[in-house]
Amino acid sequence: MGPQRIEYESQPLDVVDLDLDPFAQFQRWLDDAFAAEVPEPEAFVLSTVANDGTPSSRTVLLKQFDTDGLVFYTNYRSRKAADLAAEPRVAALFLWLPIHRQVRVEGLAEKVDPELSDAYFESRHPEARLASAASPQSQVVGSRAELDEMLSRMTREYPDGDVPRPDHWGGYRIRPSLFEFWQGRRARFHDRFRYRKFENGWQIDRLAP
Ligand SMILES: Cc1cc2nc3c(=O)[nH]c(=O)nc-3n(C[C@H](O)[C@H](O)[C@H](O)COP(=O)(O)O)c2cc1C
Repeated sequence: MGPQRIEYESQPLDVVDLDLDPFAQFQRWLDDAFAAEVPEPEAFVLSTVANDGTPSSRTVLLKQFDTDGLVFYTNYRSRKAADLAAEPRVAALFLWLPIHRQVRVEGLAEKVDPELSDAYFESRHPEARLASAASPQSQVVGSRAELDEMLSRMTREYPDGDVPRPDHWGGYRIRPSLFEFWQGRRARFHDRFRYRKFENGWQIDRLAP
């Protein structure tokens, strides 16, 4: 596909360049992605698995990140939420193409404390609050008009947008057990480093590209 392949002329990545703590390493690369003005660097693909083993992926936004994990917000009645209720194991993928980097994260997702969801919900723009309170995410709707009517009803009820956080909307925290940092290199001979969590800490391995 496409007329030509892009050469990744990035700096080499060696184990001495890495922070021993994958959270610090991730933060450093996230900062680099922002500094390089990568579009929406906090967007990542979240993959979940349904009860019957069917995998599915969708993009969500990273809203908080620290050593407790990666937090995103969504609808607790969505397809992803139904998957997570039965199978909390997830994979997350950040693709920062302009800087030839990819980060994979694997771990367990759990709902965040309601207080954290409240605080984040209250910090959102009124329009975003109304939209997420009005939308039955992942459900079938008859028409755009039907959706618009749901939003209008919500807006009539809360003209200032100060709708309270619905119980079915909130955050999940992914607690990572694996990170992989991928740096594109010339001639497809890329650098990859995987961090795996063990009882006594994180083990770092270089993987073949
Ligand atoms: C750039 C981008 C960011 C998104 N961020 C979120 C998000 O933070 N939370 C969310 O619920 N959906 C987000 N979405 C929409 C999801 O990709 C998805 O359509 C929705 O969550 C329903 O997924 P589900 O039916 O698998 O549960 C985003 C989509 C894009 C393209």
